[in-house]
Amino acid sequence: MIHTSSTVCTPSVTDVPRHIAIIMDGNGRWAESRHLPRVSGHIKGLEAVRAIIGACATQGTAFLTLFAFSSENWRRPVDEVSFLMHLFISALEREILHLHTNDIRLRVVGDLSMFESRTQELIYHAEVKTAGNTGLTLTIAANYGGRWDILQATRKIAQQCIDGNSTIQNVNESSFAQHLAMAYAPEPDLFIRTGGEQRVSNFLLWQLAYTEFYFTRVFWPEFNDAELSKAIAAYRKRERRFGRTSAQLTQKLKNVDLISC
Ligand code: FPP
Repeated sequence: MIHTSSTVCTPSVTDVPRHIAIIMDGNGRWAESRHLPRVSGHIKGLEAVRAIIGACATQGTAFLTLFAFSSENWRRPVDEVSFLMHLFISALEREILHLHTNDIRLRVVGDLSMFESRTQELIYHAEVKTAGNTGLTLTIAANYGGRWDILQATRKIAQQCIDGNSTIQNVNESSFAQHLAMAYAPEPDLFIRTGGEQRVSNFLLWQLAYTEFYFTRVFWPEFNDAELSKAIAAYRKRERRFGRTSAQLTQKLKNVDLISC
């Protein structure tokens, strides 16, 4: 299915967000506040990942996207980076069967060329194994950056034009979005960031154009089913206008010429 851009057409609004994207922040601070090493926050964070995947699958969210490692996270101390890599690989090895038996499709997005070939193969096999699953699509963003994504899409389009397979006139928001790493998913309805910071940190820069933002001070290791429910309750109270006026929405869009998607 091809998903078009929220700036080209107006998405329908559902009670349960179709796509939730999360920046799982606060692992280190959770650990430090308990006088534990930062890495124990990441281990505990993985437990929260399991719980939130389960909750999203149960409530009927179609897409869950988790920012596991940003293109800027390489700037962390070497030990922490290698621990995060190790945690990612071992989680992938251990959890894939569990995801598969729960009809969850796994996708990994980001510049994977930076990973060891063994890790790239593991990702490839996990994606192939779960490719036919029709429940939740879980996307792990690893060595991902929103700017990297926009650039890699731009390069592909430029190459198509150079090869004579497209023209500059063919480049528009919908055709551009089809070259983004997550072209298979609709734009996120709800973006959650835990840990108290209120920024996007180079996450899905293109796709967050009309996403509802929810920030919580709760550290990621403590983000659970109840916290997710709070985020969704807040989301339900939002008026998603996509550029329209409130009056237009209450008039049930009478006389408004809209292209829905
Ligand atoms: C941010 O917390 C968290 C990360 C950079 C890594 C997220 C990783 C996990 C939740 C565990 C593994 C996940 C998967 C999908 C295998 P932080 O370290 O920036 O916390 P701080 O802001 O308190 O320092």
